[in-house]
Amino acid sequence: MVGPHGGKLVDRTLKGKQLERIQDEIVELPKMVVNKELANDIRNIAEGVFSPLEGFLGQQDYLNVLYDKRLANDLPWTIPIVLDTSKHNLSGLTEGDDIVLADKTSQPIALLHITDIFNFDKKEMASLVFGTTDKSHPSVAKTFHMKELLLGGKLDLINKPESSYETHRLSPVETRRLFKEKGWKTVVGFQTRNVPHLGHEYIQKTALSLVDGIFMQPIIGRKKSGDFKDEVVIATYQALIENYYLRERAIFGILQTEMRYAGPREAIFHAIIRKNFGCTHFIVGRDHAGVGNFYPPLSAQKIFKDFPDLGVTPLLFPCVFYCERCEAMANEKICPHGIRYRLDFSGTKIRAAISNGQTAGLMIRPEVAKVLMKWKNPFVEM
Ligand code: ADX
Repeated sequence: MVGPHGGKLVDRTLKGKQLERIQDEIVELPKMVVNKELANDIRNIAEGVFSPLEGFLGQQDYLNVLYDKRLANDLPWTIPIVLDTSKHNLSGLTEGDDIVLADKTSQPIALLHITDIFNFDKKEMASLVFGTTDKSHPSVAKTFHMKELLLGGKLDLINKPESSYETHRLSPVETRRLFKEKGWKTVVGFQTRNVPHLGHEYIQKTALSLVDGIFMQPIIGRKKSGDFKDEVVIATYQALIENYYLRERAIFGILQTEMRYAGPREAIFHAIIRKNFGCTHFIVGRDHAGVGNFYPPLSAQKIFKDFPDLGVTPLLFPCVFYCERCEAMANEKICPHGIRYRLDFSGTKIRAAISNGQTAGLMIRPEVAKVLMKWKNPFVEM
């Protein structure tokens, strides 16, 4: 089986005696409240989803990730996983201090051993990570709302943050065990933020034809307005898998982290994460993790050339559509018929059809459409 990124699956969850011992200590420590998305990523770090990260990035790693798309030790890493705070919140804390990260109800989630406290430039972060400082990009707007300081350091998980979707979560330890039990030597990972359309299914099944199994893992977490709600994505995927996949060939699990809409950089990040879950291959299609027209449709594929040492094989798919002349699903590489015969499907198109009360006909399976129609409003609103 493929090794985790960096060679070792990170486990920073406190257990048994360690956990007992910490209960008295944490009462004395300063507390910092983190939002839901940070809480999810704390758990991701602790459970090895973001291996080799053992905490939030320190300054050297942060700058390296921004400028070289690698950690300071040269390992590929493209998205800064950081913890922001204000000077006011810091109130006397210095490097070397321990603090408790807690959720909104004051429940402790993790201990953070602070090694770095540093200023950062929001413009620099936005332009390097998202390729733009245009605030109409959802993550750029979010970057400009961050507090002014970053805290770096390793963390130890005390309590798992609550998840409304616990039953759909699988940790990297669990997926690795499952893949082994099934005897899968090669596994392709599939990332999505959308309800499944026939284009998704086509690339999933084309990839699956070449490997032993597929791990379908939608992102569940903060998404932009107009994307599908988490519960809608989960329910429609269940309908798809139940009706159109062999049980022994497909595993479903969610990835609880936010969408960054960072296009090419996020494609690498998504591939690394799936490698940590035990995937040997990873699907990258058209405009992976894109938003609006911020990235050229194939930029998320081209970036893989810069990472021959990634340790997970990208399966790059051309734009997929339905061709009326072929009377079949096709793609740019195999279909000789003109654009006028093409029915393009994209999340955006399905969203538009559903908003207008149409069933999206040839674009999605009837079982998926049926589930989708149960929601009066299946879209995220902000
Ligand atoms: S994403 O933000 O998670 O990338 P989406 O859920 O739509 O969005 O896509 C999941 C995967 O399917 C991505 O790798 C994407 O590039 C690919 N994909 C989606 N639609 C198409 C299409 N029509 N042709 C080729 N690949 C596609």
